[in-house]
Amino acid sequence: MSNQNPTIIVTGGAGYIGSHTIIELLKQTDYNIVSIDNYSNSTSKTFERIQAITGREVKNLNVDICNLEALELAIEQVKNPIGIIHFAAFKSVPQSVADPLLYYHNNIASLVNILKISKALEISNFIFSSSCSVYGNVESLPVTEQTPFSKAESPYAHTKQMGEEIVENYTKFSSGFNSVLLRYFNPVGAHPTGFNGELPRNRPDNLVPYITQTAAGILQQLTVFGDDYNTRDGSCIRDYIHVSDIADAHVKALNYLIENKQKAQNTIFNLGTGEGVSVLEAIRSFEKVAQQKLNYKIGPRRAGDVISIYANNDLVKRELNWEPKYNLDDMMLSAWKWQMHLKEEQ
Ligand code: UD1
Repeated sequence: MSNQNPTIIVTGGAGYIGSHTIIELLKQTDYNIVSIDNYSNSTSKTFERIQAITGREVKNLNVDICNLEALELAIEQVKNPIGIIHFAAFKSVPQSVADPLLYYHNNIASLVNILKISKALEISNFIFSSSCSVYGNVESLPVTEQTPFSKAESPYAHTKQMGEEIVENYTKFSSGFNSVLLRYFNPVGAHPTGFNGELPRNRPDNLVPYITQTAAGILQQLTVFGDDYNTRDGSCIRDYIHVSDIADAHVKALNYLIENKQKAQNTIFNLGTGEGVSVLEAIRSFEKVAQQKLNYKIGPRRAGDVISIYANNDLVKRELNWEPKYNLDDMMLSAWKWQMHLKEEQ
């Protein structure tokens, strides 16, 4: 790959969604990719996994984005940057409740710093990782991009609301700067090869890694948090979306900005399949594709859970010509393959 090709900076490139997006960028485009990741919640091994899948090496700058001086110094190495995809952030709801200032500092300071870099280097295409948690508890479903924010349920969700507002306002007052905010619903699954996936450092909080680790015998039993909600089977409803579909949407959003197809300086897209799936349905799907019974029990509700949320994804389908390719079974099978791959690696 020639160094003359434009470069896309991916912050958090060793992370779950960042690494899958790099894989799609390498597959679908000729851009040079430079990651910025200090491995605070990831490992350098991810780049070996990316190389195993794509055959390409990715340069990573190991720097804390909250440290502006170090960031400015490191970024001098980047040749011809034309776009930034900003993933790097903390993302655990319970951790943010336990330590709100950690989240406010890390998620907001890093965003302001990366915007400063984009200004200094005149990089005019910017994509921000947001989350459906910005909606809070909503009154009507599915949610569209116009659904107003309710009060954030956690400091994590609040940093995403604030982050969106910062990017929106900065965009509004910066001529020539264009941005896309992507609101992810519940990203799950792994690369279809099973060679790259989510790597929780500690005991996972999220449903799918909890399921696969239980099935692999690492955890003893899954607890379903509540079966007495007012839903079709009593468990919570979410919009699970395959991480490779999320990654593909980033490539499309980036090209949309670079090719100047956007209708406004700032565009917001919901990234979900549009289908609500209950926790018990997710378990059934896993049991089917993994061909085994899962050890689970019904437990009490989890504090802070919204009952039901899923996306209206008409806008992203229309504007980016994006379509989710993977269904729930594909999500579960790929997550299971990844869990098996991790076991083989040990
Ligand atoms: C939340 C946020 C999401 C954020 C993500 C990051 C909302 C609506 N969503 O996702 O934006 O990106 O955290 O971590 O705030 N469950 C169990 N047992 C378990 C684990 C989970 O039953 O052991 C259930 C939960 O109650 C929930 C569903 O599985 O109904 C999904 O939970 P989880 O994977 O943790 O994601 P969210 O909380 O939906």
